[in-house]
Amino acid sequence: MAATRTMMRYGGRRWFTSCSSRALRWWDHVGPASKDPITGAIEAFLADPSPAKINLGVGAYRDDEGKPVVLQCVREAEAKVAGSDYLESVSSCLGSKMVEESVKLVYGEDSFVFREQRFAGIQALSGTGACRLFAELQRRFYPDSEIYLPDLTWSNHHNIWRDAGVSRRTFRYYDPETKGLNFSALLDDIKNAPSGSFFLLHPCAHNPTGVDPTEEQWREISSMFKVKRHFPFFDMAYQGFASGCLVKDALSVRIFLEDGHLIGCAQSFAKNMGLYGHRVGCLSVLANNTVQASMMRSQLQQIARSMYGSPPMHGLLLVSTILTNLEIKALWERELKVMTKRVQTMRTALREELEKLGSSLNWQHVTNQVGMFCFSGLAPNEVERLRKEFHIYMTIDGRLSMAGVTPSNTTYIANAIHQVTRERARM
Ligand SMILES: Cc1ncc(COP(=O)(O)O)c(C=O)c1O
Repeated sequence: MAATRTMMRYGGRRWFTSCSSRALRWWDHVGPASKDPITGAIEAFLADPSPAKINLGVGAYRDDEGKPVVLQCVREAEAKVAGSDYLESVSSCLGSKMVEESVKLVYGEDSFVFREQRFAGIQALSGTGACRLFAELQRRFYPDSEIYLPDLTWSNHHNIWRDAGVSRRTFRYYDPETKGLNFSALLDDIKNAPSGSFFLLHPCAHNPTGVDPTEEQWREISSMFKVKRHFPFFDMAYQGFASGCLVKDALSVRIFLEDGHLIGCAQSFAKNMGLYGHRVGCLSVLANNTVQASMMRSQLQQIARSMYGSPPMHGLLLVSTILTNLEIKALWERELKVMTKRVQTMRTALREELEKLGSSLNWQHVTNQVGMFCFSGLAPNEVERLRKEFHIYMTIDGRLSMAGVTPSNTTYIANAIHQVTRERARM
């Protein structure tokens, strides 16, 4: 009885079964969350008992044998940090060092951003966490603003800004006809958005399409942003993975910087250092001056504090060591080139195999696209057939992770794709 009275006092009556059962009934109104397309593909792969199954769903680097890789630079950093004292003072000091080095990585070693301390930067829970911190900052200080996301984009962008309470709009980006960039539509949408809108841009290796603007196109985009006084937020999840070069992959951001934009940037070390589980990332937002930067930093720290307190330490030590030790950093850059080269080689091999099999469809986009993913153009029913008949798993939108393609499975994958697209090719 006491429990009933307490429940009623706190408005719990709606959730309480009236007479037959005396148990408290919480959470009855909770149904299952909708499935994330990426998790959906992974779950289907795990449930398949076939030994021949191939996972092209997950965006994590694999070697020529299809095995996950711990980079040598990470192993060397591990050796250096082994036995470190995990002191609080070390954490905050290394955190800021990691943030400084990350900022240099994206805006340039000798950029005024660092020299004049014109940035508010914070260690984040990888790229996802950096995006979420920014979305919170946006809602806090521009509560009526919206975010323009590319159509298409990484599906989680929608979740992140939705859960932060920011309305989402899309701007045209990918052209399914050409399997390339719909540049004129993209420019039109930027032009037609209300002045002073927030836009999310993928600076390189666009996920899921693998389609990036050219340097010339980035310059035009930046000019249009200036005319419209839009705010560019770059989600840099794959620096180094498009071209194999950290500097080249930051070109888009640096064009915007040259043009005088204030920029927000999320960085992730999950893919380019292979530190998926360590959740190390950085959010930086440029400011007009040092004082503004320090005020914004304090706001970011407050947002992070209420969400997760402080970020994990071990990954931070690894990233700091890699970014600050010249030899280990050079090793990292060499390893990035090796990873990128392997993925590019697999793109060529896959396209050649498809052409050798006599597919009359155009597979040029396989080699035109860059980064971890190939947006294959396969229809959902073709993806389903690949799962059922060939045990090959990718997301239902036809995005396949090139990292899962290896010299020993390319022919099998190409043949399977050829079989499921045969009818379409005849049309
Ligand atoms: C475009 C984009 N942004 C952010 C992320 C999140 O990466 P992280 O694992 O670092 O949170 C991903 C991961 O797939 C991504 O593709």
